[in-house]
Formats: sequence, structure tokens, C-alpha cells
Amino acid sequence: MNQINQQITEKINGAEETKRQIFFMNKAKDYVETLAGKLGRKPTCCVTTFGCQMNARDSEKLAGILEKVGYELTENEEADFVIYNTCTVRDNANQRVYGRLGHLNSLKKKNPHKRIALCGCMMQEPSVIEKIKQSYRFVDLIFGTHNIYKFAELLTIMFESDNMVIDIWQDTDEIVEDLPVERKYPFKSGINIMFGCNNFCSYCIVPYVRGRERSRSPKDIIQEIEALVADGVVEIMLLGQNVNSYGKNLEEPMTFAQLLKEVEKIEGLQRIRFMTSHPKDLSDELIQVMKESKKICRHLHLPLQSGSTKILTQMNRRYTKEQYLALAEKIRKEIPDIALTTDIIVGFPGETPEDVDETIDVVKKVKYDNAFTFIYSKRTGTPAAAMENQVPEEVVKEGFDRLLKVVQDTARERVALLQGQTLDALVEEVNEQDSSLLTGRLSNNTIVHFKGGKELIGTIVPVYLKECHGFYYLGERA
Ligand code: 5AD
Ligand code: SF4
Repeated sequence: MNQINQQITEKINGAEETKRQIFFMNKAKDYVETLAGKLGRKPTCCVTTFGCQMNARDSEKLAGILEKVGYELTENEEADFVIYNTCTVRDNANQRVYGRLGHLNSLKKKNPHKRIALCGCMMQEPSVIEKIKQSYRFVDLIFGTHNIYKFAELLTIMFESDNMVIDIWQDTDEIVEDLPVERKYPFKSGINIMFGCNNFCSYCIVPYVRGRERSRSPKDIIQEIEALVADGVVEIMLLGQNVNSYGKNLEEPMTFAQLLKEVEKIEGLQRIRFMTSHPKDLSDELIQVMKESKKICRHLHLPLQSGSTKILTQMNRRYTKEQYLALAEKIRKEIPDIALTTDIIVGFPGETPEDVDETIDVVKKVKYDNAFTFIYSKRTGTPAAAMENQVPEEVVKEGFDRLLKVVQDTARERVALLQGQTLDALVEEVNEQDSSLLTGRLSNNTIVHFKGGKELIGTIVPVYLKECHGFYYLGERA
């Protein structure tokens, strides 16, 4: 990928950086106050997230800073400040951003004080920056994934500038702790345990836009969780592109399983989830820790990507169909009530209908509780984009439809197995369609709707699983 040479802020060591950003938060606050004076009201802001759980967590950090400097958070893009936290894992995510930017421009024409910012994975691509500079001149601020902790500083630069402010870094080894965060849910939270990815699956752009793998220290992670629990959090999701290789680059190396054991000890914490696991790194130690744990949820997301060993080799996944099947069988044997979910790509270069048959065979054998199926998207700069044997669209579509049907049938079958059981659900919200119902999540990630009052939100209650409706249940409080 081409080098980007658009760095305007500088790298400073961790603790110093935290102090520096607090300084800039105060400075940005003055600008927001001045704006409030002009508007005659508190300025509003809107953070829109595209993509994965990592981005959702990053958006909470952006929202934390915006709130701190005096903005009022809203979900309406008519706000005085709108930031898109973008994803670039597949091209359709990029297209959605371009599509929505046009609308933001028309809103900006009506509100001269409006400021528009873009950040996240898509901004790490030089071709994207070029396109925005040429065709989307109305954007005020652009930064990438490596300097997100500079947000307060970048906001002040934006307020002081009449031109588009662009700050993109090539990489970073810095992890800056202790900046404000505004959580979406009071009772559950994501926590980054590591950043970046070293795997270089041949189709994937993540290692290029998120950089090399860096683990946070266990001390910082535990402290953050303890503070969250003290603030009412009962469920956490440990986040990393490949949590199974956590801790390898720490001064005192530690395995992910060891980290989980430490997290388990935190009093008041009730549920632990994590995402994502690479099958090649999933250890027996982890399976044992999950099996013995009272808090780790009965759910494992284990991306398959393809069931054909030939395609897996081309994808640089470093496991075979047989190794994956053996792993899934071992997990099911040790933890029978676990839900397995997965990601699958259809249409990788060179994939034949027979390769799709192999994938379908794995789905039938593993019986996933849910599977996210994606059509292969060519990402510039990845090895797969340069492969010659790209698959024609109609062949991809045929394979995709065939796979989807099997995925849905097996998932329905799996979810139906819970019928008649009474299981604990964490109550997450009032049902969007029917306000007499609450929506809760079982340990194995299945959703259940049941009658109840909103005072139960954030608590864990036993629910009788009465009727299975495909992928969710209607239940009754037990
Ligand atoms: N095309 C389609 N799907 C992709 N994924 C990653 N890169 C691509 C791509 N180029 C999928 C993988 C991954 C999930 C997050 O996105 O299945 O597990
Ligand atoms: Fe991408 Fe593979 Fe890393 Fe996942 S493990 S982020 S698919 S390179």
C-alpha cells in the first residue's frame, strides 16, 4: 500500500500524552462554549459507527471526549458536529459512507456552524483520502486508527483552521490509557485487550489499516474492568482481532487463558465475553478455562472463512478443514452447551462450487448457532486482490445462496434445542416493536423477548424459553 504522508500531530509517550490530551480537552471546551454563545444553546454532536465491535468501542471513546468538551450527544445527523467512524473490511462499507456524505453536505448548507469529521479504518487508505480531498471538500477533519487518542487535540486544530484538517499516521506502538469514555449501555461494555493483527489473511485489509498486534498490560485491563464494575457494568466483552494470541508481545508474556482467569476473579462482574478467536491459536488451556468458568459465556465465535483446505491455504489461514473440524468437535465435547458462531466468505479467488460444497459440509457437521456469510470483496493492496482467478459474480451468488440456506436451516435447528429450558438472560432493553416486552440475551448469545418492566434492564433474570421463533425466543419470567 502507498505511504501516506499526512501526519500533523506528533507521537508522545503514554502518560505524557494523557496529560496533553486533557489540556486540549480544556482548550476545545472553550471553543465549544463560544459556539454555544453564538447558537444560544448547547451544541449537539452525533457519532455514527460503521463496522465491528472494535469500532463501536472506539466510538464510545469519541463520544466520551465530545461530551467532556461540552457537546450534547444525539443520534440525529442534523447535529452541529457529526463524526463517521468508518470501516473498510468490505467495499460496501465504503460505499455507504460516500452515499451518506452527500446528505451530510446538504445538512451543512443549512447549518453554517456544522462540522463534519471522518475517522477509522477507511481513512488509512490513501486512495480514500485522495477521493475525499477531491470530491468531498466540505469535510472538516479526517484522522485514522493510530491517532484516535489525539481526538481532543485534533478538534482544537479543526476549530482553529478554515481548511480541511488531515492527520493520518502510518502506524503506532503507543497505547494511551485513561481518556474519558461515554458508554452506550450502562450495564455492559467492550474492553480493548489488544490492537492490530499480525495474521495477514490474504483477503483482509485489517492488518494494513489497524497495524501490528499490540497487547495492553493485564494491570491496565483489570483496572479498567474494576472501574467499570464499580460503575454498574455486569457484562464485559474483551476485544481484539485475534484474542487467542493476547500477551505474546508483553514484557512479561501471558496467555489469553491466564488473562481470563484474572478477569474471572473480579468481584461483581457477572459475565465475560470475548471476540474474535482465530482457530489456529485456540489452545486447550483456553477450552479448560472456559469449561471451569462460572462467568465466561457459553459462546465462541470461531471464524471458518472456508471449509476447503485448498482455499484456506490460499487465504493464509494456517489450518485445514480437518483441523478445524477436530477443534470444533473437541470444544463441543468439553463444553456441550456452548454456542458456536462463525464468519464465512464466498467467492474467494479460485473458489469452485466443489469448494463451496466443502464449506457446506463443515456447516452441516459443526451446526453453528449463527453464521455471518459474506461475499468476497476485493481490497486493494491485499495479496488476494492480485490473484488472477477472481470468481464471476453469478457463480459467487449461486454458491452464496446455497450456503445461506444450509446456514439458516442448521441455525434454526440449534436454537430450537433450548425450547422448554429456563436460562438466565441479561435484560438489555425494552423491545423496539412491542414496549410491553423486554429483550434479553442468554449466556450463549441467543435473544429472548418476554414481558416485564424496564426496571429490570441491566439485571440478570431466569427466563422460561417458551416458543422458538427461528433465531430468537418468546419467553416468560421464571
Ligand atoms: N471480503 C469479504 N469478507 C471479508 N472479511 C474480511 N475481509 C473480507 C473481504 N475482503 C470478513 C471475514 C472476517 C469478517 C470480520 O469479515 O469473514 O472474519
Ligand atoms: Fe483479518 Fe485474518 Fe487478522 Fe481477522 S485474523 S483481522 S481476518 S487478517
